[in-house]
Amino acid sequence: MRIGVFCSGGDAPGMNACVRAVVRRAISSGHEVVGIQRGYQGLLDEDFYLNADREPRMRLRTVSGWSRQGGARLRSSRCPAFRTEEGLAKAAGILDKHGIDALIPIGGDGTFRGAVDLLRHWDGRVVGCPGTIDNDLIGTDFTIGFSTAVQTAVEAVDKIRDTAESHERMFLVEVMGRHSGYIALYTALACGAEGVCIPETFTDVGSIAEQLKVLEQRGKTSVMIIVAEGDERGGAAALQRALNELGQPSATRVVVLGHLQRGGCPSPEDRILASRLGDFAVTALREGASGVMAGVSAGINSLTPLQDTFTLHKELPAELLELLETLAM
Ligand code: F6P
Repeated sequence: MRIGVFCSGGDAPGMNACVRAVVRRAISSGHEVVGIQRGYQGLLDEDFYLNADREPRMRLRTVSGWSRQGGARLRSSRCPAFRTEEGLAKAAGILDKHGIDALIPIGGDGTFRGAVDLLRHWDGRVVGCPGTIDNDLIGTDFTIGFSTAVQTAVEAVDKIRDTAESHERMFLVEVMGRHSGYIALYTALACGAEGVCIPETFTDVGSIAEQLKVLEQRGKTSVMIIVAEGDERGGAAALQRALNELGQPSATRVVVLGHLQRGGCPSPEDRILASRLGDFAVTALREGASGVMAGVSAGINSLTPLQDTFTLHKELPAELLELLETLAM
């Protein structure tokens, strides 16, 4: 088998560890791996990783040290051309021309939507690996990159808490998560935040203002609210404006963590998950699987139809939301 591997969409810490596992598992079982650079855009541009002999083939040593490296060594991109029938047909032709039988895309829901569309034009097989900091894909307890992103956000929020306490202030800290509150909820719980605003629940500014008064009466001198960028009120700055209108002091500060959360060395959890999933994706392809995403749920490897990853919403654990509310006293 000649397997094409690539990273697509937002980069996530651990993507390199996943590529490393794909390369090592595939070569050790007698297969070849072509590294496609810059995701679907690179496929359309025939931008393949070239080894020292200028061949489009990854070697065992190509991926040395990749498990500890952040970012995407194969580069990543978002590719509008892949949403057109012409783009998809062109990609299918390029894959056939280069004798690629199977693909392992590492990315999120947009990546897997692209893969499903491609399979309408192409006769090869696809097993995806979940690589996104958002942890918004069903079929796996965690996605590659989520653990590191939460760790990064927690370190930042802990530092902001020092300033919040020194100045007896409230901070609204915005974290990533366009359609999902996972990063916000986990960060809030880990940091002992007083509140979390996420797309999955209605953000009632009136009751937040009430809760702030209660907390003040109980002697709280600093307040930290974690806001997912995808919260229906429009993020931390919008929440600040709404709270100000209800009489909250303008001394409240907003911090947007942004792309800081996507970089950095992957955590041990992300490295291990990525290694497991890259290995499992190759095994699944060898056993004939296609149109599925490799995941780990409750410690067990599992395959989920790619279609489900972008049509079904991954629920947040309600008990963790409740726990946050209970502890934020
Ligand atoms: O999907 C990962 C993610 O980091 C989201 O949390 C965020 O909304 C988005 O990517 C940002 O994408 P870009 O880097 O293309 O602006």
